Amino acid sequence: MRFLKKAREFIDGNYKTPKGLLGTFIGEKMVKQHKTETDWSLEQMDVQEGDRILELGCGAGYAIKLISEKDLAEEIVGVDISPTIIRSASIRNKRAIREKRVKLVQANLNELPFQNENFNKIFSIQTIYFWVDIDKTISEIFRVLKPDGVFVLTFSDGKEDDTWKSIRDITENQVIPHMRKAGFKDVSLMRGPDSRGYHTVAVRGMKK
Ligand SMILES: C[S@@+](CC[C@H](N)C(=O)[O-])C[C@H]1O[C@@H](n2cnc3c(N)ncnc32)[C@H](O)[C@@H]1O
Repeated sequence: MRFLKKAREFIDGNYKTPKGLLGTFIGEKMVKQHKTETDWSLEQMDVQEGDRILELGCGAGYAIKLISEKDLAEEIVGVDISPTIIRSASIRNKRAIREKRVKLVQANLNELPFQNENFNKIFSIQTIYFWVDIDKTISEIFRVLKPDGVFVLTFSDGKEDDTWKSIRDITENQVIPHMRKAGFKDVSLMRGPDSRGYHTVAVRGMKK
Protein backbone atom coordinates (compact mmCIF):
# COMPACT_ATOMS: atom_id res chain seq x y z
CA MET A 1 0.00 0.00 0.00
CA ARG A 2 2.82 2.35 0.98
CA PHE A 3 4.54 1.64 -2.33
CA LEU A 4 1.33 2.34 -4.27
CA LYS A 5 0.86 5.64 -2.39
CA LYS A 6 4.45 6.67 -3.19
CA ALA A 7 4.00 5.69 -6.85
CA ARG A 8 0.77 7.75 -7.03
CA GLU A 9 2.52 10.78 -5.49
CA PHE A 10 5.40 10.38 -7.95
CA ILE A 11 3.03 10.30 -10.93
CA ASP A 12 0.98 13.26 -9.61
CA GLY A 13 4.22 15.20 -9.15
CA ASN A 14 4.90 14.66 -12.83
CA TYR A 15 1.64 16.40 -13.75
CA LYS A 16 2.83 19.37 -11.71
CA THR A 17 6.37 19.46 -13.09
CA PRO A 18 7.14 16.70 -15.60
CA LYS A 19 10.68 15.35 -15.22
CA GLY A 20 12.83 12.87 -17.14
CA LEU A 21 11.50 9.94 -19.12
CA LEU A 22 8.27 9.61 -17.11
CA GLY A 23 7.76 13.38 -17.45
CA THR A 24 8.08 13.12 -21.25
CA PHE A 25 5.55 10.28 -21.27
CA ILE A 26 3.14 12.23 -19.05
CA GLY A 27 3.51 15.35 -21.23
CA GLU A 28 2.35 13.29 -24.24
CA LYS A 29 -0.42 11.69 -22.20
CA MET A 30 -1.70 15.16 -21.24
CA VAL A 31 -1.82 16.15 -24.93
CA LYS A 32 -4.35 13.33 -25.47
CA GLN A 33 -6.21 13.86 -22.19
CA HIS A 34 -6.65 17.64 -22.66
CA LYS A 35 -7.66 17.70 -26.35
CA THR A 36 -11.30 18.68 -25.69
CA GLU A 37 -10.49 21.56 -23.34
CA THR A 38 -7.61 22.67 -25.56
CA ASP A 39 -9.82 22.87 -28.67
CA TRP A 40 -12.51 24.71 -26.71
CA SER A 41 -10.02 27.15 -25.15
CA LEU A 42 -8.65 27.99 -28.59
CA GLU A 43 -12.19 28.68 -29.82
CA GLN A 44 -12.51 31.18 -26.94
CA MET A 45 -9.19 32.73 -27.98
CA ASP A 46 -10.49 33.33 -31.51
CA VAL A 47 -7.02 33.65 -33.07
CA GLN A 48 -6.78 36.53 -35.55
CA GLU A 49 -4.20 37.95 -37.93
CA GLY A 50 -1.42 39.76 -36.06
CA ASP A 51 -2.23 38.34 -32.59
CA ARG A 52 0.57 38.15 -30.04
CA ILE A 53 -0.26 35.12 -27.91
CA LEU A 54 1.18 33.75 -24.68
CA GLU A 55 0.43 30.33 -23.17
CA LEU A 56 1.30 29.72 -19.54
CA GLY A 57 2.21 26.14 -18.57
CA CYS A 58 2.27 25.10 -22.22
CA GLY A 59 3.07 21.43 -21.51
CA ALA A 60 4.18 19.46 -24.57
CA GLY A 61 3.17 22.29 -26.93
CA TYR A 62 0.01 20.93 -28.56
CA ALA A 63 -2.05 24.16 -28.25
CA ILE A 64 0.89 26.14 -29.59
CA LYS A 65 1.11 23.85 -32.59
CA LEU A 66 -2.61 24.26 -33.33
CA ILE A 67 -2.26 28.05 -33.18
CA SER A 68 0.87 28.15 -35.34
CA GLU A 69 -0.82 25.94 -37.98
CA LYS A 70 -3.41 28.67 -38.47
CA ASP A 71 -0.53 30.86 -39.63
CA LEU A 72 -2.20 34.05 -38.42
CA ALA A 73 -0.46 35.07 -35.20
CA GLU A 74 2.49 37.44 -35.29
CA GLU A 75 4.04 35.91 -32.17
CA ILE A 76 3.31 32.74 -30.16
CA VAL A 77 5.17 32.20 -26.90
CA GLY A 78 4.90 29.21 -24.56
CA VAL A 79 6.15 29.32 -20.99
CA ASP A 80 6.70 26.28 -18.80
CA ILE A 81 8.77 25.66 -15.69
CA SER A 82 9.81 22.13 -16.69
CA PRO A 83 12.91 21.72 -18.92
CA THR A 84 11.65 18.23 -19.83
CA ILE A 85 8.38 19.58 -21.14
CA ILE A 86 10.05 22.50 -22.94
CA ARG A 87 12.08 19.87 -24.78
CA SER A 88 8.89 17.99 -25.82
CA ALA A 89 7.21 21.24 -26.90
CA SER A 90 10.33 22.20 -28.88
CA ILE A 91 10.30 18.89 -30.76
CA ARG A 92 6.57 19.26 -31.52
CA ASN A 93 7.04 22.84 -32.79
CA LYS A 94 10.49 22.44 -34.37
CA ARG A 95 9.66 24.00 -37.70
CA ALA A 96 7.75 27.01 -36.36
CA ILE A 97 10.58 27.68 -33.90
CA ARG A 98 13.10 27.58 -36.74
CA GLU A 99 10.92 30.01 -38.68
CA LYS A 100 10.79 32.23 -35.57
CA ARG A 101 6.99 32.09 -35.37
CA VAL A 102 7.07 30.24 -32.02
CA LYS A 103 9.25 30.79 -28.98
CA LEU A 104 9.42 28.58 -25.88
CA VAL A 105 10.69 29.93 -22.59
CA GLN A 106 11.50 28.03 -19.43
CA ALA A 107 10.19 30.28 -16.66
CA ASN A 108 7.89 30.45 -13.65
CA LEU A 109 4.47 31.88 -14.41
CA ASN A 110 4.89 33.91 -11.19
CA GLU A 111 7.59 36.03 -12.79
CA LEU A 112 7.07 36.48 -16.49
CA PRO A 113 10.23 37.50 -18.36
CA PHE A 114 8.41 39.86 -20.74
CA GLN A 115 8.00 43.58 -21.01
CA ASN A 116 4.75 45.32 -20.12
CA GLU A 117 1.86 45.12 -22.60
CA ASN A 118 3.55 42.58 -24.87
CA PHE A 119 0.65 40.20 -25.71
CA ASN A 120 -2.97 40.70 -26.71
CA LYS A 121 -4.10 37.15 -25.84
CA ILE A 122 -2.97 35.01 -22.90
CA PHE A 123 -4.28 31.60 -21.93
CA SER A 124 -3.53 28.70 -19.65
CA ILE A 125 -5.00 25.19 -19.60
CA GLN A 126 -5.11 22.86 -16.60
CA THR A 127 -2.49 24.71 -14.57
CA ILE A 128 -4.41 26.61 -11.85
CA TYR A 129 -3.95 23.71 -9.41
CA PHE A 130 -0.21 24.47 -9.33
CA TRP A 131 -0.27 28.26 -8.94
CA VAL A 132 1.40 29.01 -5.62
CA ASP A 133 0.59 32.74 -5.59
CA ILE A 134 -2.61 33.45 -7.51
CA ASP A 135 -2.59 37.19 -6.75
CA LYS A 136 0.98 37.66 -8.04
CA THR A 137 0.45 35.50 -11.12
CA ILE A 138 -2.68 37.44 -12.10
CA SER A 139 -0.81 40.75 -11.61
CA GLU A 140 1.94 39.46 -13.89
CA ILE A 141 -0.58 38.41 -16.54
CA PHE A 142 -2.26 41.82 -16.36
CA ARG A 143 1.13 43.55 -16.65
CA VAL A 144 2.19 41.74 -19.85
CA LEU A 145 -1.25 42.02 -21.47
CA LYS A 146 -1.99 44.88 -23.86
CA PRO A 147 -5.02 47.13 -23.32
CA ASP A 148 -8.09 45.41 -24.85
CA GLY A 149 -6.27 42.10 -24.42
CA VAL A 150 -8.00 38.95 -23.22
CA PHE A 151 -7.05 36.28 -20.69
CA VAL A 152 -8.62 32.79 -20.61
CA LEU A 153 -7.90 30.37 -17.77
CA THR A 154 -9.26 26.86 -18.39
CA PHE A 155 -9.51 24.08 -15.81
CA SER A 156 -11.79 21.35 -14.44
CA ASP A 157 -14.01 21.92 -11.42
CA GLY A 158 -15.67 18.55 -11.10
CA LYS A 159 -16.34 15.17 -12.61
CA GLU A 160 -19.72 13.76 -13.66
CA ASP A 161 -22.16 14.51 -10.78
CA ASP A 162 -19.45 15.77 -8.50
CA THR A 163 -18.41 19.44 -8.16
CA TRP A 164 -15.07 19.97 -6.46
CA LYS A 165 -15.66 22.43 -3.64
CA SER A 166 -11.97 23.29 -3.20
CA ILE A 167 -11.46 24.44 -6.79
CA ARG A 168 -14.86 26.19 -6.82
CA ASP A 169 -13.76 28.12 -3.70
CA ILE A 170 -10.45 29.06 -5.32
CA THR A 171 -12.31 30.26 -8.42
CA GLU A 172 -14.92 32.31 -6.57
CA ASN A 173 -12.82 33.60 -3.68
CA GLN A 174 -9.41 34.03 -5.28
CA VAL A 175 -9.22 33.89 -9.09
CA ILE A 176 -12.23 36.08 -9.92
CA PRO A 177 -11.69 38.66 -7.11
CA HIS A 178 -7.94 38.92 -7.86
CA MET A 179 -8.68 39.42 -11.55
CA ARG A 180 -11.11 42.24 -10.75
CA LYS A 181 -8.63 43.75 -8.30
CA ALA A 182 -5.85 43.66 -10.91
CA GLY A 183 -8.09 45.64 -13.28
CA PHE A 184 -9.68 42.97 -15.49
CA LYS A 185 -13.16 43.86 -16.73
CA ASP A 186 -16.09 41.68 -17.83
CA VAL A 187 -14.75 38.78 -15.75
CA SER A 188 -16.94 35.73 -16.27
CA LEU A 189 -16.98 32.00 -15.65
CA MET A 190 -17.90 29.94 -18.72
CA ARG A 191 -18.77 26.25 -18.98
CA GLY A 192 -17.30 24.24 -21.85
CA PRO A 193 -17.72 20.65 -23.04
CA ASP A 194 -16.96 17.87 -20.56
CA SER A 195 -13.65 16.15 -21.17
CA ARG A 196 -13.50 12.46 -20.19
CA GLY A 197 -16.31 13.18 -17.72
CA TYR A 198 -14.49 16.16 -16.18
CA HIS A 199 -16.30 19.51 -16.23
CA THR A 200 -14.49 22.08 -18.34
CA VAL A 201 -14.74 25.69 -17.18
CA ALA A 202 -12.85 28.88 -17.92
CA VAL A 203 -12.52 32.26 -16.32
CA ARG A 204 -12.24 34.99 -18.93
CA GLY A 205 -11.38 38.63 -18.46
CA MET A 206 -10.45 41.65 -20.55
CA LYS A 207 -7.96 44.41 -19.89
CA LYS A 208 -9.83 47.59 -20.80
C1 LIG B 1 -1.23 19.53 -15.97
S1 LIG B 1 0.04 20.20 -16.98
C2 LIG B 1 -0.90 21.00 -18.30
C3 LIG B 1 -0.07 21.17 -19.53
C4 LIG B 1 -0.82 21.71 -20.75
N1 LIG B 1 -1.33 23.04 -20.52
C5 LIG B 1 -1.93 20.77 -21.12
O1 LIG B 1 -3.11 21.15 -20.99
O2 LIG B 1 -1.63 19.64 -21.54
C6 LIG B 1 0.66 21.57 -16.06
C7 LIG B 1 1.85 22.24 -16.69
O3 LIG B 1 2.14 23.44 -15.96
C8 LIG B 1 3.55 23.52 -15.78
N2 LIG B 1 3.79 24.31 -14.55
C9 LIG B 1 3.50 23.96 -13.27
N3 LIG B 1 3.87 24.94 -12.43
C10 LIG B 1 4.37 25.95 -13.20
C11 LIG B 1 4.93 27.22 -12.90
N4 LIG B 1 5.02 27.66 -11.66
N5 LIG B 1 5.36 27.99 -13.92
C12 LIG B 1 5.28 27.55 -15.21
N6 LIG B 1 4.78 26.34 -15.54
C13 LIG B 1 4.32 25.54 -14.56
C14 LIG B 1 4.02 22.08 -15.67
O4 LIG B 1 5.39 21.93 -15.92
C15 LIG B 1 3.11 21.40 -16.69
O5 LIG B 1 3.68 21.37 -17.98
